[in-house]
Amino acid sequence: MTNLKVKLGKLELQNPIITASGTFGYGEEFEDFLNIDKLGAITLKSITLKPKAGNLPPRIAETPSGMMNSIGLENKGLESLINVTLPKLKKYKKVKVIANIAGHTIEENVECARQLNNQSRVNALEVNISCPNVDNGGLAFCFNLADVRVLVEKIRNVYLKPLIVKLSASVPDILKLAETCVNAGADILSLINTVPALEVDVEKKALFFKRGSAGLSGPAIRPIALKAVYDVAQKFDVPIIGMGGISCLEDVLKFLIVGADAVSIGMMNFVKPTISQDLVMELEKYLKEKKMKLWEMRLNSSPGPFS
Ligand SMILES: Cc1cc2nc3c(=O)[nH]c(=O)nc-3n(C[C@H](O)[C@H](O)[C@H](O)COP(=O)(O)O)c2cc1C
Repeated sequence: MTNLKVKLGKLELQNPIITASGTFGYGEEFEDFLNIDKLGAITLKSITLKPKAGNLPPRIAETPSGMMNSIGLENKGLESLINVTLPKLKKYKKVKVIANIAGHTIEENVECARQLNNQSRVNALEVNISCPNVDNGGLAFCFNLADVRVLVEKIRNVYLKPLIVKLSASVPDILKLAETCVNAGADILSLINTVPALEVDVEKKALFFKRGSAGLSGPAIRPIALKAVYDVAQKFDVPIIGMGGISCLEDVLKFLIVGADAVSIGMMNFVKPTISQDLVMELEKYLKEKKMKLWEMRLNSSPGPFS
């Protein structure tokens, strides 16, 4: 049987297919469609310390090759995640669970990380640094490298399992951002988050979303994501989870070729809820037919973290 196992530092996955935060709920929403235990990992929707209502509607807009969202990090808060959601995920023995935090202050993120460190069903933690830092006028953390450094260092001190930092490709210099995260203690980088974009309601002669800007995801951002992954992989020897616009096996292969060690599937979960499981099977079939190992997909065919 083709070996799909990957090692992202100390995070070992049975295969490189992950679901992206905010597009797969907390797993249970997809139980009727696929066997979650067949996936490499699931990333839970971003949580905050206290429950959050999110933005006013409209929250979603369709575009010709993707969708825009302005959900506003709606979630039930950390306590509910720990007491209600995580126990339900205990029945899955093979899939790894990546929690995702999106606190609005450094302290809030550190407190979430501290509490999640004690949760056995959480195998890794992803930090969403694209959300607003209220102590810095609401500017997203990722735009201030000094804040990113302190944030990641402080989380690193309290979170001892694999730590993933999720990068945005909208910053002036993604390599500097990647370097800051790695130096501050990130074990794995995931990229990219949605890309800021705007939609207009012509009938109302107004901006479509109440907050103006919203996050664009889907096939439209795939080339942006591929460049980000390629650039970071060329420069840093750090495990990478690539995402942005993956909608078929060919897209998965593209990310692996340019340097991703695993990939996350986002918006397409809404279009085709079985896609992540389908991609595990399709990847296995492809490698078997080609008689290739996973690491041989890479541009320079070096084993990297693949087994
Ligand atoms: C509806 C929606 C909600 C999202 N919510 C989150 C979130 O809560 N936290 C996060 O880190 N990323 C969130 N994302 C970003 C995705 O995890 C992913 O980075 C992005 O959509 C790019 O991948 P894709 O093009 O395959 O969707 C969300 C994306 C969508 C479409």
